[in-house]
Amino acid sequence: MKIKSLNITNFRNYEKIKVSFNDSLNIIYGLNGVGKTNLVEAIYVLALTKSFRTNVDKNLIKNGELSLKIEGEVEKSSLDSYQVIINKEGKKVKINNNLQSKISDYISNINIILLEPDEQRIFDLAPSARRKLLNIEISQLNKEYIFLLNDYNKLLKQRNFYLREMFINGNKDRSYLDILTDKLVDNGLKIHHYRLDFINKINEYINEFYNEIFGFGNVIIKYLSDYSQKNKDDLIKSYKKYYDKEISIGKTAIGIHHDDIIFELDNKNINEWGSNGQRKNSVLAFKLAEIRLFEKEKNEEPILILDDVFSALDNEKIKNIVKLLNNNIQTFITTTDLDKIDKKLLENANLFKVENNSIREINNGR
Ligand SMILES: Nc1ncnc2c1ncn2[C@@H]1O[C@H](COP(=O)(O)OP(=O)(O)OP(=O)(O)O)[C@@H](O)[C@H]1O
Ligand SMILES: [Mg+2]
Repeated sequence: MKIKSLNITNFRNYEKIKVSFNDSLNIIYGLNGVGKTNLVEAIYVLALTKSFRTNVDKNLIKNGELSLKIEGEVEKSSLDSYQVIINKEGKKVKINNNLQSKISDYISNINIILLEPDEQRIFDLAPSARRKLLNIEISQLNKEYIFLLNDYNKLLKQRNFYLREMFINGNKDRSYLDILTDKLVDNGLKIHHYRLDFINKINEYINEFYNEIFGFGNVIIKYLSDYSQKNKDDLIKSYKKYYDKEISIGKTAIGIHHDDIIFELDNKNINEWGSNGQRKNSVLAFKLAEIRLFEKEKNEEPILILDDVFSALDNEKIKNIVKLLNNNIQTFITTTDLDKIDKKLLENANLFKVENNSIREINNGR
């Protein structure tokens, strides 16, 4: 898929801009703080309706304004227009000017893979950050996944609330808890299946990238879950074992809300054992492996965003990444320093200069 043009109103530092993009490589350059990441962030929000930099949507609205609009034309088998509108009340999404009632139906249409320089921070964050990463990626692949996740979270809340109520009321009848547990397990098993399937498929591709671009060794992602290797009966039994404890703490003790992933290099946990570079490279290889997975599952190349990765990767690696990916993948690169970019890459790229809250295409002599 290709994003042909982008029309932005009141997003971050931009009041109103309209740009058309190249189908293969787009390089966005300018000084620090001028709005390069903001531009690729707009593409990301157009696709996922959420930012990778903030959970607070209203931060995306230009200071002093009440609403923002991002509109993009995206070419797949047909050319369609997508719109995300955010104001203080919430957000709306449209496809070809038709309002979509479910954001989950919108999200899997434009697929984005984003690489950032400090990607390895994912290792230092809580497991919830790694679950969030899984959720973002899997929901781009499967519409059903977001529904399941929303249902699971609702059930979990309901179940926790009921556990607390049982404690307060000294309620000994567990029949309603059984019902809630049954529903939670059904739902959780489906989510578990999606996550396991995703991780298994990533593991098929991750080493191609790790070994050709970053280093040597065997990288795999391990999925840690309370639901691993368990069927419904096993799980119901496990929950029942924890009922007393759960009632006393007012919380659901096991479930896919505890899932985590670890990266291993040659059978050792990279986070505990690997170097900073190995940690960084393994996450980048994971993101690149996703491109292969998206291509296969959706029969469409996703859009690739490399935000400021030149500060983290040398030219040789970037060249290899672009070579491995071939020209079919529309790629956006942001950088402060054009001189750092390989001449060959520059020759085939469209260049965009960002300054004074606007963006200008620069003819690079072709
Ligand atoms: N809601 C907003 N309204 C207006 N301006 C904003 C808003 N949010 C952020 N900005 C401005 O956007 C600028 C940062 O833009 P951005 O992060 O895209 O910079 P950049 O070009 O990627 O810089 P770097 O090279 O350092 O990564 C800051 O000057 C900030 O003040
Ligand atoms: Mg930036």
